[in-house]
Amino acid sequence: MRAVDIIEKKRNGYELTKEEIEFMVNGFTKGTDVADYQMSAFNMAVYFRGMTDKEATYMTHAMLHSGDVLDLTKIKGVKVDKHSTGGVGDKTSLVVGPIVAALGAKFAKMSGRGLGHTGGTLDKLESIPGYNVGISEEEFFKQVNEIGIALMGQTQDLAPADKKLYALRDVTATVESIPLIASSIMSKKLAAGADVISLDVKVGSGAFMKNLDDAEKLARLMVSIGRLSGKIMSAELTNMDEPLGLAVGNSLEVIEAINTLKGKGPKDFEDLCVEVSAELLFDGGLVKSLAEGLVKSREQINNGKAFDKFVELIKAQGGDISYILNPDKFPKAKYVYEVKSEKDGYVCKMDALAIGHASMCLGGGRKQIGDIIDHAVGIVLNKKVGNKVLKGETLAYVHSNTENPLDVLKTVLDAYTIGNEVVSPKLVLKVIK
Ligand code: URA
Repeated sequence: MRAVDIIEKKRNGYELTKEEIEFMVNGFTKGTDVADYQMSAFNMAVYFRGMTDKEATYMTHAMLHSGDVLDLTKIKGVKVDKHSTGGVGDKTSLVVGPIVAALGAKFAKMSGRGLGHTGGTLDKLESIPGYNVGISEEEFFKQVNEIGIALMGQTQDLAPADKKLYALRDVTATVESIPLIASSIMSKKLAAGADVISLDVKVGSGAFMKNLDDAEKLARLMVSIGRLSGKIMSAELTNMDEPLGLAVGNSLEVIEAINTLKGKGPKDFEDLCVEVSAELLFDGGLVKSLAEGLVKSREQINNGKAFDKFVELIKAQGGDISYILNPDKFPKAKYVYEVKSEKDGYVCKMDALAIGHASMCLGGGRKQIGDIIDHAVGIVLNKKVGNKVLKGETLAYVHSNTENPLDVLKTVLDAYTIGNEVVSPKLVLKVIK
């Protein structure tokens, strides 16, 4: 086989075979038969020509088998996992994990770090002193067997082909290809080994997918890849035109997750966590209907069992639980600035990307891989889409360790569109089964 022939075949719009796709992925990853410039041309051909579900599944499997595949058979019970395509203020795993684990599911999750405007679950967890995201695989299995939940970082050798391919896509304008995104995400999800997977595909200004059509295509393709690989799949398309919940920033989001686990969190966020949990429980056969899943998931919040499970998780991974029991202990930013509305009206639109960017500029996110994160900084919204606001009222609080971060304050103010229109935002836009 020759890379040039495969590139030409894809460029001309023909369907590739399993062997041809494996040749490209393996040859590129090992640096043998496929040069970087050939893989770049291949990616561009895929960008314009797309891939069938079968091709995308072959691509996913080639990347998945380039490294370690976790064998979760060592864990007894139904192994569930969730994935969000990344948004602003998305701390869902911190709440969904404890809810489903409290109801008997095994939540064995590997998470990533944040880059750019979206935060990573690992960075959030690391704002809890002592929490070890680097536990060994053996410890991971043991912990999930004992308490039903573990949240750790991805092992170095999980889908290495994806790491190399993503780095190339990033500099060749081929990130935004639906089959390439789907195979990238699903290679890591499948390598992590769960039986039941729920995908949260974010749509809107703060997400990869800016419109519902593209988000639906991506969600359907990922669901199809998962099913063709023998997994039980579901997906939700959720709104990322405004941040999820109120808090954006690492320890601020952990505090919001703690409040939500105690039934005192923002309603949009609690509702989404309950919905994703119910989906996982139903698909995993742990409840008889979605409706029962919803009731039981909400019950775990109200009876304190989800919170207790979170405390167990943090303790098992070495975190100082006094911070969970008393969130006032989390280090605070030196300054809290209020961003005030300049007019009366209703919040009719928000720019989630701008809020994520503002948090990153405060030090809450990474501009580049390897940047050190300031866990205390971030933004807490006081108004969201649909809220009435008066001139001089606080729209958001900016938690900063820099005095007068004028650019950030302006970014947050500009992220709000205040008008006369009363908008009722919808969080879950579509469920794909
Ligand atoms: N997230 C991933 O893991 N891969 C992509 O290609 C895009 C988003």
